[in-house]
Formats: sequence, structure tokens, C-alpha cells
Amino acid sequence: MSDPHTPEEVKNTETTTATSSSDRPAPPAAATPVAAPADANSVVGEILGDEPTRKRRPEPTSIVIFGATGDLASRKLAPALYNVMVDGGLKEPTVIIGVSRRPLPVAQFAAKLKDGVTQFSRQKLEPAKWDKFASMLDYVGGEFGDDKMYETLKARLEAAQAKGTKGNRVFYLSTPPSEFPKILKKLEEHKLIEREVQRPGIPSCRIIVEKPFGRDLKTARELNEMIGSYVDESQIYRIDHYLGKETVQNILVLRFGNSIFEPLWNRNHIDYVEITAAEEIGIGGRGAFYEATGVVRDIIQNHLLQVMSLVTMEVPASFAADDIRDEKSQLLRSIRDLTLNEVANDCIRGQYRGYRREEGVAKDSQTPTYAAMRFFIDSWRWQGVPFYLRAGKKMTERLTEVAIHFKSVPLVLFKEEAAGSVLQPAVLTLRIQPHEGISLRFVAKVPGENISVGNVVMNMTYADAFKRPISEAYERLILDCMRGDATLFNRRDSVDRAWELIQPVLQVWEATPGVLPYEPGTDGPPAAAAMIERDGHSWKELTKPEPK
Ligand code: BG6
Repeated sequence: MSDPHTPEEVKNTETTTATSSSDRPAPPAAATPVAAPADANSVVGEILGDEPTRKRRPEPTSIVIFGATGDLASRKLAPALYNVMVDGGLKEPTVIIGVSRRPLPVAQFAAKLKDGVTQFSRQKLEPAKWDKFASMLDYVGGEFGDDKMYETLKARLEAAQAKGTKGNRVFYLSTPPSEFPKILKKLEEHKLIEREVQRPGIPSCRIIVEKPFGRDLKTARELNEMIGSYVDESQIYRIDHYLGKETVQNILVLRFGNSIFEPLWNRNHIDYVEITAAEEIGIGGRGAFYEATGVVRDIIQNHLLQVMSLVTMEVPASFAADDIRDEKSQLLRSIRDLTLNEVANDCIRGQYRGYRREEGVAKDSQTPTYAAMRFFIDSWRWQGVPFYLRAGKKMTERLTEVAIHFKSVPLVLFKEEAAGSVLQPAVLTLRIQPHEGISLRFVAKVPGENISVGNVVMNMTYADAFKRPISEAYERLILDCMRGDATLFNRRDSVDRAWELIQPVLQVWEATPGVLPYEPGTDGPPAAAAMIERDGHSWKELTKPEPK
């Protein structure tokens, strides 16, 4: 079995050997790393109650992508739809209509998407399959405020309906939010959308809205009001692609599908929790976007608070969309608001050196590319447990994970034998990416006559356990929207509450300069380590990936 985690494992598999007071021979003074045999950590997955994509195929639908010549369409949406088609997840006829300002023959639009699929698809592009995918494509060019464009779009949708899409429509708004009002107004005027509670038996009409969903509480509320004035909440699918990631979905299965975790999942047993989203990449060519966004709006307000709510929410009444979303929303409401003082003293903002030289970035920019902050949850389950969230660009490695640190044992029984040793408490890590999986670090006795203890890591990776490729988040999310399953999409109340939670951070940071520089390829500004160390804790160290 190839194990991508060998470096971490070896690092964590340290023995702590005590100087024995017994008459046994004294053990070697230095700790010796004990590497587990290569297959010692294998976990074999047995698939229970599998529901192949094919069985849950949505009804034939027209998918209209506004902003179809943009980056998201070629990097994420086209590869996702191509993979879903290859996996047999789409019923015929499915029609994909690209809409963008530029007039473009459909063949050129297809060629553009083909580049994206070639570069970014998880499954290799195969000519015959691509031809089939290309036959599903259509394109309408024109200004988003131009009536003619909507007349053409209407004609194309009617043609799709005549082919068999039964009037089912998804409008994917992959444009800057400033375009949404114009697009929705025109769609309504041309009777391409109408407000209707979505239910089985009627043609579906849904709207997918990309993040960022507003830029603060006020603008998010205005955006919600505006969209809500055209369509019903059941028609709105606010995307947070983190929720489509396998490992994020597995948080609930791990917690509520196993009876061994839930009794420990509270303040009695958990010391603290780290949630990390570290990226090796910088801001790419997105200087202007990033200047207006920054890491708090880009990652913490949405992705990390969503992950935190799944890790900490109460047991839902069922796995139905609103039961899960009710619990998430309830949890977000019980996160304690940060005071302005706490933001000033305990929240850390950093900016990688060189950021100010990126295209589209101000020479004196104060935009944070790194942030670390601590939240508490005022609930019986979580009272007093700190949750440390950090996210950054240009860091040591690409790693997104949740590390749940359990409390130390109350009494070290073999104290004398282990004198001076560091018995590290158990850590359960939910690795969201890369090498998706779960690992548990715990203490074990090193074989031998002495009471020597070592930290060992048990690893489960999806790739090894189930021998199945992991699909991309967008594949799952687009399919779910077509099926009318909103479980993995954000509801309005959660979006508002997440903005409310980070509002004090935005307020203080935007009013006072003070972003701390950090070197690219590091774990962020040293002040972030100092912040968590003040509480007697420490971040898990990020490790450089092995050279390829
Ligand atoms: C996006 C952010 O939402 O998530 C990007 O806008 C970030 O800045 C990306 O790079 C990270 O997503 P993933 O799936 O690569 O972790």
C-alpha cells in the first residue's frame, strides 16, 4: 500500500523511553523512531448500502451557466459536469447552455471548456466521451441587461424542453454578485424564472449562487432580500464547495454513525480543536478580487465556519436537509461573539511577503492573506473548549484538516518509568485534503522489557479503504441541486450568522492597520503561534510535502 503520510507518521511515531528505576537494564537515552510496517495502517472499507450515482440520477434538466467563459466554468463546472456524465450520472437529454457577454460560436465555447476539462478533470478526457459531452453544449452571447439575449435564451430553453428536459432549469450565477440583480430581473421579465415552492411533480426552477455571498452582514442581507424578491428560498442554492467535499460530508457519518465517538465529543474529553485551511498557492492572478476579499471573507466566513458547525452541531432529527441545516444554524448561533478587544488581542492577521507586488494589489495593502482566531461555543456540550481557526495562502503545505485534541490522562500510572517523558494526548484528525482520510494518534507501549511509550498514528485514507476515486465537490453539488437536495447548501440564516460572527474582525482590521508579514512557505506569522501558546496549546506543525 502506498502511504502518502509516511513523513508525518514517522515524525509522530516517537518513542519516549524512561530511565527505569527498576532493576531492568536501562533503556537507551535517546528516543528512537519506530516506523510501522508499510501496511500496518491499512483500513479495509466494506461498502454498506451503496447507492450508485446512476440510481439517483436527476431528471433531465437544462443547466444555464451565466459567466460561462470565466475561470470557474472551465476549472470547476465543466470538469464536474464532464465527470458526472462519464460516471453515468446524467439522464438524457441534459442541456448545458453557456451565457456570457462575448458572442462566440458554440464550437469555440466547447473548445474553451475542453481545455479546462483536459487540464482539470479528475478523469482523463476521452475523445468519444468528449464528443458526447460537447453535443450537450449550447451557447448564448450578449450583455446581461440586453433583452435580445434573453429572447434567444428562452428559445434555446424551449428547444431543450422539446427535446425532453420537461422545463427543468438550473441557473448557475457564476458572475460577480454585482451582476445578479440585472440577471434575475431579466430572467423574471422574460418568464424564465418564477417564484414557486419547489416540490415533486412540477418543473424545477433553481438558482445556484456562487460565493462570496455579500461582503459583510449588510450586503449579504441585501443580496438575500434581492434574490428572495424573485424566487422562493427552496429555489436558492448557495454554494460553499467545501460542503461538497467527501471528507466534510464524512464528519457527520463519523460522528453519528459510530457510537464510540459521540460520548467523547464534548468538553469533558476534548481539550481544544484546530481547524486549518493552509494553501501553498498564493492569489494567482486574482489580485483585484483578493484585495476586496481577504482571507477572512474568502475562507473563514464560509468554509471554516461551515466545517466547524458540522464538527460541533447536535444530533439532527434526521438526515433531511432542513433538519441538518437547523442544527448547523443553531450551532452558529451559540458561537460566542468576539469582542473588539478580543479581536485586537487574540486574532492574528498576516500577509505573505511579496503579496504587495502581485498584480492588482495596492503597494501599502493591509489585506490579510493569513488569519488565525479563537472561538468559544456557549453550549452545554462545548463550554470552555477553544476552537482555533486558521487559514492562509503561501504556507508550508496545502492542508485542510480538523484536529481534535483530547485531554491528557488524569494520572500517569507509570510516572516513574516515564519520568521526564512527554505523554502526548490523543489527537483525532479529520483530513479534508489532500490524502483525504482520518487518523488517530495515541500512545502505545514500545515492545520490550522497559515501560517505554511512543506516539503512534493509525491512518485511514479513502483512496485505500474504498478503492474508489473521490469525486470533486462540484460534481456532487451540481447533481444535488438538480435533484432538489439542499442539504449541502447554505441556508439564509446560516449565511447571515456567519457574517455576524466575523463582523467584529472586519470592523477592527479595516479600521486599523497592523497586518503582520510572514515568509512564503512558512506556517504564518510567529504571533499566531504565540496566540495559541498563551492558552497552553500549540498548532499542529505543517510539514513540507516530499519533493515530487
Ligand atoms: C475558494 C477560494 O473558495 O477556495 C480560493 O476563493 C481558495 O481562494 C479555494 O483557493 C480553496 O479551495 P480548495 O477546494 O482548493 O481547498
